Amino acid sequence: MRIGVLTGGGDAPGLNAAIRAIVKRCEKYGFEVVGIKYGWAGMLKPETLELEYENVKDVVGIGGTILKTSRTNPLKTPGGIKTVAKTFKDLRLDALIAIGGDDTLSVAKALSDSGMNVVGVPKTIDNDVSETDATIGFDTAVNTAMHIIESLRDMAESHERIVVVEIMGRHAGWIALHSGLAAGADLILIPEEPFKIEDVVKFVEKKMASGQKSLVIAVAEGAVIADYKGLVTKDTSVDQFGHVRLGGIGEFLAKEIENATGIETRAVTPAHIIRGGPPTAFDRMMATRYGIAAVDLVKGGKFGLMVALKAGEIVTVPLSKALSKMKNINKDLYEEAKTFFE
Ligand code: F6P
Repeated sequence: MRIGVLTGGGDAPGLNAAIRAIVKRCEKYGFEVVGIKYGWAGMLKPETLELEYENVKDVVGIGGTILKTSRTNPLKTPGGIKTVAKTFKDLRLDALIAIGGDDTLSVAKALSDSGMNVVGVPKTIDNDVSETDATIGFDTAVNTAMHIIESLRDMAESHERIVVVEIMGRHAGWIALHSGLAAGADLILIPEEPFKIEDVVKFVEKKMASGQKSLVIAVAEGAVIADYKGLVTKDTSVDQFGHVRLGGIGEFLAKEIENATGIETRAVTPAHIIRGGPPTAFDRMMATRYGIAAVDLVKGGKFGLMVALKAGEIVTVPLSKALSKMKNINKDLYEEAKTFFE
């Protein structure tokens, strides 16, 4: 058998661990592995890398993706699916393992629907893919964001300032909520729970009146301000998957707080910093198990599926189910978190 593997969408720590595991499992079964470079772009304009275990055995702890990535969407390219199918044939592939978030996996699903042998592996720091407890990169991003928030607390306390930290995560608040809680942020604002500026100002004033001299506020980049004209974004352009570039809500909120309270307020945006660096042991381990499970699906001739983590077990789910909706934070979890900032 000859298996293709690609990584698409934003890079994430743990991708290389998954690639390494795929190559090792394939070696065990005597399968060849072809790395497709630059995500789906590498299937439109073929760019490949023959993968041998000898070349990937040391990448388990390296962030990013050795296969490179892109946000190219073949479904938005005229004749894209046909071209991908031709590349699949030209490369003599028997199956393709696509590692990515909902965007990359939506293409995997379309290809699977068109009859191609495709298996998905969930990856995104945002953790917003349904039917799995975790996606590759989420745990590392949470840990990195947690350390950043803690560092900023030192500064805020020393200067007796407010700091607003804007955390990536697109339209889900997973990273902001987990890292904010883990680092003891005073307030966490997430997309799932629209907020009013006046309520944040009241919260700040109440804290200061109670004697607190500094505050750390974690705001998810996709957090929604009630009664505002829409999301705060970098600009209005969208990528090939229809996503607008989020960012700016931290700066916006910091200014509003400073203007209303007169307290010096800084905004910090770690942005892509939380997407890089060595993966945590959890991400390496989960990515390794995902990689092994993905190859086993191929060996068993099972396609149109995504490997997933549920209550500590590696399971498989139909791609169609995993992509049917975005995984958001449920009300109960946010209510638990609110214990710390009500
Ligand atoms: O999906 C991962 C993510 O880092 C989001 O949290 C963020 O909104 C987006 O990608 C940023 O995309 P780009 O790397 O294209 O700027």
